[in-house]
Amino acid sequence: MQIKLEKAGLLDFGCDLLVVYSFEDSDGQNNEIGVLDAALEGAMNKLMRQSGFKGQTGQVLVFPTFGKIKARQVAIMGLGKVKDFNTDLIRKIGGRAVQIAETQRAKNLTIFLLGVNLEGFSPQLCAQALTEGALLAAHKFHLYKGRKHNSRDINKLEAFTILLKDGRILKTAQNGVERGGVLAEGVLLARDLVNAPSSDMTPHQMAAEAKKLALRGSGITCKLLDQNAMHRLGMNAALAVARGATHPPVGVHLVYRPTSGAKRQKSVAIVGKAVTFDSGGLSLKPAKSMETMKIDMAGAASVIGLFKTLAALKPKVAVHGIFLAVENMPSGSAYRPGDVVKTMDGTTVEVLNTDAEGRLTLADSLTYAIKQKPDVLIDLATLTGACVTALGEDIAGLLANDDALSDKILNAAKLSGEELWRLPLRSVYGEQIKSKIADIKNIAGGSGGGAITAALFLQNFVGNTPWAHLDIAGPSYTEKETRPDLPFGASGYGVRLLAEFLKDI
Ligand code: BES
Ligand code: ZN
Ligand code: MG
Repeated sequence: MQIKLEKAGLLDFGCDLLVVYSFEDSDGQNNEIGVLDAALEGAMNKLMRQSGFKGQTGQVLVFPTFGKIKARQVAIMGLGKVKDFNTDLIRKIGGRAVQIAETQRAKNLTIFLLGVNLEGFSPQLCAQALTEGALLAAHKFHLYKGRKHNSRDINKLEAFTILLKDGRILKTAQNGVERGGVLAEGVLLARDLVNAPSSDMTPHQMAAEAKKLALRGSGITCKLLDQNAMHRLGMNAALAVARGATHPPVGVHLVYRPTSGAKRQKSVAIVGKAVTFDSGGLSLKPAKSMETMKIDMAGAASVIGLFKTLAALKPKVAVHGIFLAVENMPSGSAYRPGDVVKTMDGTTVEVLNTDAEGRLTLADSLTYAIKQKPDVLIDLATLTGACVTALGEDIAGLLANDDALSDKILNAAKLSGEELWRLPLRSVYGEQIKSKIADIKNIAGGSGGGAITAALFLQNFVGNTPWAHLDIAGPSYTEKETRPDLPFGASGYGVRLLAEFLKDI
């Protein structure tokens, strides 16, 4: 689908579907509707009255124009109250517009750029949000549909045209469309990787996906660590998790370096959890809990998605993307409850539950990351069911050893529309992961606060580096279909948030 910007009047534009909108409480904002209604000889207002359309959020009215104007159909969408308007609503409108076009079998759609005449909303941000919403809603994951699935039955929206009343904002709006397009591409890549079954998205394949981004001119390089290299580096915790699987583990180290800029560049390391399938290992999960465990590499998928955007966004910081891809399986060679493993930094860990494997792979990933001497370290991990219990499925948990970093990330999340809530890294709870026979153990043992004790485990491996941990077990995947830009399956949580964070660090 192509996103275009045009400066044109409402009635000048021939298209299959024209999308307009209306606030619940502001008549002044809606002169488009007056223009349309006049051209349609009063039919529009009549329809709105008859169907009880008042402009509340989520209300939609679609009707044909019978040749009275150039557009074949009109959709009018409710925006709710002006005071509640925000950029995330623009994303939802963009996505909803695409959905309506699909059900109305429209090949092209025209929509006025919304929000620009409200105070505090720049044309760039409005155009970016509309683009994100549209592209994220339009993408379909059909790779695994069989021969009988006829993709021609699905309407393909070819053009999404954003109309501007004022030509002077064309350039800034264009920047927004471009940025939105790049971000959506990164998010959709992350989604596709997570949605792919574990039988295809193996550790080896994760590495191949990262390698694809190291193109000439992108500023990105990619180094792979095979099992032997991981062994030489002493990544015994990650190797222990991988031991039960037939698929060998692979370590990935992506680096983005800005071409120009300051003498001493800041650098950020982003670590992702990359368990390509989490069966629980010998501490086997129940069948129901295993159904979605192909998503346990969502953190690393977001790292790959982020790097896809970096090549185009070219931020002024150096970025390391690091993950150790493993599969967690039970077998005769699997690591056992009771085993003690020595991590890359020499910490000994008593493994009491092989299903708390994420923190083991992350221990070595974080050690490897701080060896790169980053100014800031962030990890993303589908780490605990406890975080989902604490915050629900829509909100990620944030745990950080640095308030300024935490605030920056929360702020980036607000701009990207990804929900995030800080949890305390309460050091006293660290007592719960002390081991009698080793330095620490990998589970706290059933006294609640599981998202916190997991983060405290990770904290052992970050030293004094400003560090933030995002527990994305909840929002990385959804089956609820509550918003048009977030269909069934993987969300790509974190890609836009991190791109936003890197923008002005
Ligand atoms: N992959 C899971 C966490 C998870 C749960 C992700 C639900 C997505 C949705 C993780 O490896 C795990 O199994 N964690 C255990 C930890 C426990 C054994 C301390 C959990 O949350 O139950
Ligand atoms: Zn697990
Ligand atoms: Mg979920």
